Amino acid sequence: MSKLTLFAICPGGLDEVLKREVEKLPAKISATYPGGIEFEGDLRTAYLANLKLRSASRVLLLLERFKKIFKPEELYDAIAGLPWEKVFTPESTFAIYLTASETKERRIPVNPQFWALKAKDAIVDRFRNKGLERPSVNRDEPDITIRLHLHDQILKVYLDLSGPSLHERGYRSQTMEAPIKENLAAGLLLLSGWQYFCNEGFSFLDPFCGSGTLLIEAAMIATRTAPGLYRKRFGFFAWLGHDPELFQRIFEEVRSERVLEPHKLPTLCGSDKSAEAVAVARSNLENAGFKDLVKLSTCSFESTKANQPKGLIVTNPPYGVRLNEIETLIPVYRDLGSTLKHNYKNWTAGVITSEKKLLHSIGLKSEKHFDLRNGALESRFSIFRIY
Ligand SMILES: C[S@@+](CC[C@H](N)C(=O)[O-])C[C@H]1O[C@@H](n2cnc3c(N)ncnc32)[C@H](O)[C@@H]1O
Repeated sequence: MSKLTLFAICPGGLDEVLKREVEKLPAKISATYPGGIEFEGDLRTAYLANLKLRSASRVLLLLERFKKIFKPEELYDAIAGLPWEKVFTPESTFAIYLTASETKERRIPVNPQFWALKAKDAIVDRFRNKGLERPSVNRDEPDITIRLHLHDQILKVYLDLSGPSLHERGYRSQTMEAPIKENLAAGLLLLSGWQYFCNEGFSFLDPFCGSGTLLIEAAMIATRTAPGLYRKRFGFFAWLGHDPELFQRIFEEVRSERVLEPHKLPTLCGSDKSAEAVAVARSNLENAGFKDLVKLSTCSFESTKANQPKGLIVTNPPYGVRLNEIETLIPVYRDLGSTLKHNYKNWTAGVITSEKKLLHSIGLKSEKHFDLRNGALESRFSIFRIY
C-alpha cells in the first residue's frame, strides 16, 4: 500500500487531544500546527482516521506541495500540471477552496476567491486538454472537495477525504438552541479523562443536556463506538484511489470493537429544565442507539443530587453573548457552584462557557482550564474537583 501524507483539522485548542487520537490510530505524526496534525500512513490509516477520530473536523490527503507561488498564473500552471484525471472522473462534481496566510515580511496580496477560480479553471482545462468531458462545479454538495493552503508562497494541494465536516455524525435529527458541535463535545470529554473514568465505575451526568450531544458522545466513548460508523457519506467515496472492499473490511473491524454488554457500561444521566429539550435529546439518543443506556429527566440542575459516589459532569450551561444576557446568567452559575459543592462531593466537573465572568461566578477554584474555540466564540473549559 502506498504511503500517504494526511492532515487532520480540529477546533482551536483541541490539538493535543487530536494528537493523542492520531497516535492511537496508529499513525506516525510528522508535524503539528495550531488546529491541525500532519501524519503519515496508508489507505488503511486514512479510513481509520475518518472513522475513529472524535475531535477532528476533517481529514485531508496531501496531493502535492509547490514552492514559490507568487502569482495566480503560477498557481494555474502548478494545478494544471497535476493528474486530476487520476483523482476523479469528469462525472463527479467538485468544489475548490483556498485559504492564504503569511508570516514573512514580504507580503503578496491574495484574493482567495480569485485564486480559487484560477485553480478551478486549471482543473477544468486539464480534463479538456486530455480529451475528456469537463467536470462541473457544485459548491453545495460536491462529490469531490479540493482544499488549497497557501502559506508564505508554499502551496499545499489537498483532497478532502471527509467531505461534509466530521462533526456531522448523522445521529442528530433535531437540535435545540446553541447545540455544541459533536467533535468539540467529544474533545471536552477526552480532555476530562472520560475514556479512563468510564472504565473505573464513574457515572456521567450532563445536567444542562439540551439536545443531548455530550450524552451521546459520552455513550460513544464508553461503548467504544467510532463516530464515523453513523455516517452515510465520506469525501473519499468519489476518489479514484478509494478501495470500497478494503473500506468495508475496516468498517466491520471498527464496528466489532464496540462494547455493548450493559454490565460493562457506566451509568449515564442527562437532565434539562426544558421538557422540549429532553424530548429532543431522547429522539437523538434513539437515533444513536443509546436510548436504553442513558437516563433522562426534566428538572433544573439545582434540584439534582449525585446518584453514585464517583462521577464526572461535563456540561455547557446557557451562555450569553450580549451584556444583559450575561448579567441575568450570573445567578445560574452561582447556583451551579453551590449545587456542585453541596450535592456532588468527590465528583469532577468540566464546564465550558464563552464568558469568563460566568465561570468566575461558579465560585470554585478550577484544577485546570483550556482555552478553546466553540465556532466563532472564544471559550474556556474549566475542570473542578469537588471536595
Ligand atoms: C447551551 S444549552 C446546552 C446545549 C447542549 N449541550 C446541546 O448540545 O444541545 C443550555 C441548556 O441549559 C438548559 N438550562 C438552563 N437553565 C437550566 C437550569 N437551571 N437547570 C437545568 N437546565 C437549564 C436550557 O434549557 C438549555 O437546554
